[in-house]
Amino acid sequence: MNGRTKTAIFANSKGGVGKSTVALLMSMGLATRHGDSKIELIDLDPQATSSDSLKRFANRRFSVLQDDAFFLGNGFPNNSKIISHIEQKGSFNHNNHYLIFDSPAGSEPARSAFFLSCDIIFVPTSVSDADIFATRNFLNSLQDLFSSEAGTNAAKLPSVVILPTMVDSREDFNEVRIELSSAAAYLGKPLYYSPLFRRAFRAEAEDKNVKDMLLHSSDYINWLTNLLIHSHAISPRPRKLFQL
Ligand SMILES: Nc1ncnc2c1ncn2[C@@H]1O[C@H](COP(=O)(O)OP(=O)(O)OP(=O)(O)O)[C@@H](O)[C@H]1O
Ligand SMILES: [Mg+2]
Repeated sequence: MNGRTKTAIFANSKGGVGKSTVALLMSMGLATRHGDSKIELIDLDPQATSSDSLKRFANRRFSVLQDDAFFLGNGFPNNSKIISHIEQKGSFNHNNHYLIFDSPAGSEPARSAFFLSCDIIFVPTSVSDADIFATRNFLNSLQDLFSSEAGTNAAKLPSVVILPTMVDSREDFNEVRIELSSAAAYLGKPLYYSPLFRRAFRAEAEDKNVKDMLLHSSDYINWLTNLLIHSHAISPRPRKLFQL
């Protein structure tokens, strides 16, 4: 699994749980920490929150892609187009290339076969009851998608990592751990609530807001980027929730 392009997707059927925010931390984190890496952030949200606001950071190593060809007329993902994009990038065989997908609310694993072509599926969730309930359903739908690939080598299935976001306290985090304890997934570190994230997608003078946010979340970003870089080292499917 080493020595080729790594692909991650941020997904949850629930809206407003931090998918775009953490996809931003991942992309900027890889770009700023690893000088020889190439990152493509692909915005699968027709509203294009990420791509519109992040285009200004594009350079030789960091690109932002929003392509209508990735959707079908009914708004669902065009799996064959997305899979061939992932495979084309994968064929570069560079271990410092990263594809980061940000996906919209409402995504349905049953309609998203391309999830199976990713190395890691990150599932951000806030700690509110409604979000945890929706996240549990989403995780079950992911397992259904994996089961539909029963013939596939389990080692080839993506790892699933739940990312608690907007966490207020250690108790908050523990609540997520207890509520999702039967999920066959990894549980990532908490991203604590901070007003700095609320301004993440604004274009402020000299990008002070983005710099402050990256500085503030530096430990979290180190952990997050290392997890993707070493994704081959985590085995794909814990039988129940496994805290990283
Ligand atoms: N750790 C945090 N602390 C405070 N606010 C946060 C945090 N993470 C995200 N937010 C805020 O929560 C809101 C939703 O975040 P974001 O847009 O990343 O979610 P999303 O899952 O991508 O939403 P959508 O489903 O609409 O695409 C944003 O206003 C964002 O700034
Ligand atoms: Mg979003």
